[in-house]
Amino acid sequence: MKRSISGIKPTGQQPHIGNYLGMMKKTIDLQNTHDNMVFIADLHGLTTVHDPKAMKENTFEAALEFLSLGLDPEKTVLFRQSDVPEHTELSWIFACLTGMGLLERAHAYKDAVAKGKVASVGLFTYPVLMAADILIYKNNVVPVGKDQIQHVEIARDIAEKFNHTFGELFPLPEALVDEETQTIVGTDGQKMSKSYNNTIMLFEDEEAQRKQLMGYQTDPARIHKDDLGHPEDCPAFALHKLFSQNNIATIDSECRAGQRGCVACKKELTENVMDYFAPFRAKRAELLKNPDYIYEVLATGGKKARALATETIEEVRRRVGFR
Ligand code: TRP
Repeated sequence: MKRSISGIKPTGQQPHIGNYLGMMKKTIDLQNTHDNMVFIADLHGLTTVHDPKAMKENTFEAALEFLSLGLDPEKTVLFRQSDVPEHTELSWIFACLTGMGLLERAHAYKDAVAKGKVASVGLFTYPVLMAADILIYKNNVVPVGKDQIQHVEIARDIAEKFNHTFGELFPLPEALVDEETQTIVGTDGQKMSKSYNNTIMLFEDEEAQRKQLMGYQTDPARIHKDDLGHPEDCPAFALHKLFSQNNIATIDSECRAGQRGCVACKKELTENVMDYFAPFRAKRAELLKNPDYIYEVLATGGKKARALATETIEEVRRRVGFR
């Protein structure tokens, strides 16, 4: 079976539907077809989060979210990155094989510098640690959003360099990007993003979530109720395509014929989205009754991950001449 791995930084940002469809859902679905691992990237999180209380809470929250959204800890190894110190050891070894130039071209670092921020050494070497995260489990695929493709390519470069220098050990990992779900439209029709303030949050209270959904923009050319509509120009229709597949042909034709008003149309959308997320909401409430369970899952996952990582690091130590 192919192996997949994905990491999420505990930055405390609440996930929105765009995050869920763009990355989290894919990551969870892989548990049915792959040897799947998901980890909370707290070491990477430390590049921006310097508040221990926030770090703890965000880590818990991230694990809670994945479990609420259907991650099954029997199928997916869910763990905390810092529970497996072998990542950092491998990261150092990789750092010694990585040219400065490769990292200078990495956009997370480039963007920070362009914005006039003082980059830490941690931010600069971020992609090296990420390569270690992926390669230590000899992973084949890495489900990511578009912004992380370059990082996975750097991991490939590093794997090739190691294999070439110390003999074939690491498979070359591939980024798994779902083009279709990369641009979920927000309430205003732009890409859904925190920075545009147009998001539908996953675990918002129901009233707020309904308001966000009913606030979706519709076809701007449709002013009167019986004007003919153009679904292709309608942000709400774009969301219907994801949540109302069973009725999509009717929605399309009624809109074009001016037989369906935008308000009624969005009511249907709202119900469908609420129905879709209801079980996740319920699961989250249930999990919150027993926080210890979340910590147990992370501890068990950490042990499993560490056993695998130890095997690889032992081999790496031998290859480079430490043993
Ligand atoms: N850099 C990723 C992000 O910001 C998080 C991450 C860290 C990651 N290590 C990883 C993702 C390894 C996939 C595989 O989203």
